Amino acid sequence: MGILLDGSALAKKIRANIKIETENYIEKYHIKPHLAVILVGADPASETYVRFKEKACNQVGMKSTVINKPSDITEDDLLKAIYELNNDPLVHGILLQLPIPNHINLERVINAIDPKKDVDGFANENVAKLSKNQDTLVPCTPLGITRLLDEYNIKTEGEHCVIIGRSQIVGKPMAQLMLQRNSTVTICHSKSKNLKELTQQADILIAAVGKAHMVDETYIKKDAVVIDVGVSRVEGIIYGDVNFDKVVDKASYITPMPGGTGPMTIACLLENTLKCYLDLVGKEND
Ligand SMILES: NC(=O)c1ccc[n+]([C@@H]2O[C@H](COP(=O)([O-])OP(=O)(O)OC[C@H]3O[C@@H](n4cnc5c(N)ncnc54)[C@H](OP(=O)(O)O)[C@@H]3O)[C@@H](O)[C@H]2O)c1
Repeated sequence: MGILLDGSALAKKIRANIKIETENYIEKYHIKPHLAVILVGADPASETYVRFKEKACNQVGMKSTVINKPSDITEDDLLKAIYELNNDPLVHGILLQLPIPNHINLERVINAIDPKKDVDGFANENVAKLSKNQDTLVPCTPLGITRLLDEYNIKTEGEHCVIIGRSQIVGKPMAQLMLQRNSTVTICHSKSKNLKELTQQADILIAAVGKAHMVDETYIKKDAVVIDVGVSRVEGIIYGDVNFDKVVDKASYITPMPGGTGPMTIACLLENTLKCYLDLVGKEND
């Protein structure tokens, strides 16, 4: 049976360390790290995610502000809200909760966020830096997965990592991070032919699709490391992309769902907020 990659336990450990660091920095700089989250509209799933993020910030002693905007907000007004946060020296991280309504140009608003405050690592400047292996703000979910791999000493160098999904949020930055770790990387997507033939070659398989229980034991080779990113809601029940029960005996390591990549994403959001804070406040005050 595969060993569980316990994201909840590691996230707890990371949060405890961040709490201590945060307390020390507040004592040193007399300024609280502050994450501002913009929530457009009232999508229940987004509201839940925002609540989790707010709670996580408060638990480690950071300040968190949620800025609610109506779903019919104009792009100009949303940009204005972002500029205000960019110019506020007491805001260190800015997160625009996705998805946002279709009438707003996502690229434009994401790139309006000051790259130094871009805790999600989605702005062009940060994406470019990641692709050039430069120090930057890395998207939280892929970053959390690398933390899990490190925690369990999972070898990545020379290993074949197959990623299902090519989004800007998960698949592509994940591929960059695995390349940095000297894995051989294959990225699959909805147009990939013979998907199973590709995934069966994976030493490390990362599923970031959003299709409930798509990956079963026929997708993986024996002793593969299996990471489940997907979250799908079907008739009120939440599923990962991986059919855990069918895969667990064949995998060497596997993330549970829930308790795998989700808590790591939040822990890495806190890490990124602290990174922004140190870059902004630390540099100014040291
Ligand atoms: N655990 C966490 O903390 C966390 C964080 C972020 C996201 N998520 C979840 O992770 C999943 C992926 O998120 P995302 O933002 O990357 O989603 P996304 O933007 O919808 O991307 C999904 C990717 O899966 C590919 N795909 C769709 N159907 C496929 C199929 N049948 N075979 C192979 N590839 C297929 C798509 O291909 P095309 O590019 O060709 O369309 C796309 O690249 C979602 O369920 C999301 O809720 C979880």
